Amino acid sequence: MFERSTAIVEPRTVSVFSVYRHPWQSFKLYWRVRRDLLGTLVDMVRSAENFLDLRIGSVRVLLLSRPEDVQEVLITQNRAFHKAKGPIFMAGIFGQGLLTTEGAPWRRARRLVQPVFHRQRVAAWGGTIVSLTHRQVTEWHDGQERDIAAEMTALAFTIVTETLFGFQGDSVSGQVRDATSKAMHFANSRQFSLVRLPAWIPTPSSRRFVRACQQLVDAVSGIIAATDEGDSEVPGLLTLLREAVDDNGNHMSPQELRDHCLTLLLAGHETTGNALAWLWYLLGQNQQVRGKLESELNALLGVESLTAESLGNLPYLNAVVRESLRLYPPAWAVVRQSIAPFRLRDVEYPVNVHVVMLPWAVHRDAEWFDHPEEFRPERWLDGSTRNLPSFAYFPFGGGPRLCIGQPFALTEIALVVGTICQQFRLEPLSEIKIAPEPLVTLRPANGVPMRLYRRVSEESLEPRTRPTDEASVANVPLCPVSH
Ligand code: HEM
Repeated sequence: MFERSTAIVEPRTVSVFSVYRHPWQSFKLYWRVRRDLLGTLVDMVRSAENFLDLRIGSVRVLLLSRPEDVQEVLITQNRAFHKAKGPIFMAGIFGQGLLTTEGAPWRRARRLVQPVFHRQRVAAWGGTIVSLTHRQVTEWHDGQERDIAAEMTALAFTIVTETLFGFQGDSVSGQVRDATSKAMHFANSRQFSLVRLPAWIPTPSSRRFVRACQQLVDAVSGIIAATDEGDSEVPGLLTLLREAVDDNGNHMSPQELRDHCLTLLLAGHETTGNALAWLWYLLGQNQQVRGKLESELNALLGVESLTAESLGNLPYLNAVVRESLRLYPPAWAVVRQSIAPFRLRDVEYPVNVHVVMLPWAVHRDAEWFDHPEEFRPERWLDGSTRNLPSFAYFPFGGGPRLCIGQPFALTEIALVVGTICQQFRLEPLSEIKIAPEPLVTLRPANGVPMRLYRRVSEESLEPRTRPTDEASVANVPLCPVSH
């Protein structure tokens, strides 16, 4: 299946937004992009053999959706690229944390934070994840309607504050989620505004953005101040960051520490919350899949509570998680900017080229996935995806900047979905297709309203107290395509 069309196709250069020469076409394209960014990008990149060389005003942009091109950028030639900064105000939102820094400060922070996400530590958080999920659904009642997207983002936030900081995040959850939304909407509208004023001019919307960023800083500073890791045997995130020294023996400044924490807080709940929302949406649309998932959980666990160790014995649940991340990858685009010349498809490109790689488009390519628009978890179990090329599936990016939270996210999503599925069945309120809103992450536009039906009462679920068993932790599945 994967031997087709391996021939390298010459890149095509297309000049869009050359407003002076083609004002009408440029304007039409602009409105199409505003109405349906994802659909337009996919059409454009497919019609150009998955490689498009665009000029948008003075900016040169390569749009890539073939796995081998993505691999060149994220792995083979990764030294020629940095994270792209300017257009989406990433640093404004995330500060100078792991997502946005480069070079020595990034290497130091990555080395320090990595152990926090070790598989064993993540598995040990399983009990917290399951009990926070139980706590969230104690508010749910049979027959009730709820916006599952809001529920899942709130849950993901409390999970990340409790696990990473040992802080009960409910008091700041609303403030952080609201500020994150405002900041992302501002970044998005600025990206597409026809007249882009310099960022320092205080317009009402830029003032809202600054206020939202300040709210985020205040919230994370409050969390850091309230976190006390003094007695814990295993050093927590803050201890690791505080003890870190650079090559000159200097500790992180309070601002650096805060920015790293803010990045983990935001990256750790926004993506996972969205992934969970899309997963429930897909399960609601596919009753057969949901039925199979319920049967698998019933057969293995009955009324026992789910644990991180049992995930290794729930192949269908893991396949459901993978498949939903294929159809709705929360990080729908991965972007880089060249800092040195690079070659792709035998063409040499200069510095300052923006390269946009689209998991959204690659994951929906029929060359790699049969009936790519269908939600079919079975494809991850029946061998049909066994020989996927690297980067035909990359919801967590790849190369040195691979998502540091991948093991955490996969464990969390599976535990939350499995635990809720044991107690509730979530039905869509209507057949209406929910549109994705491609902000910094892929959110469901206007939420995911669903009706809740109780399957088993919460009291009848027996908590398992078995200690974490190392052999079974090793079975917690990771992304099937490793980069
Ligand atoms: C379904 C959930 C998640 C998805 C789809 C996701 C996706 C991604 C992707 C695609 C990247 C690479 C971006 C790039 O190369 O430009 C990334 C990086 C990152 N993610 Fe995640 N992520 C998820 C969950 C998490 C969680 C739970 C955390 C932390 C608690 C986290 C923290 C980070 C950080 C810190 C980076 C930057 C890593 C670096 O540059 O060294 N993510 N994520």
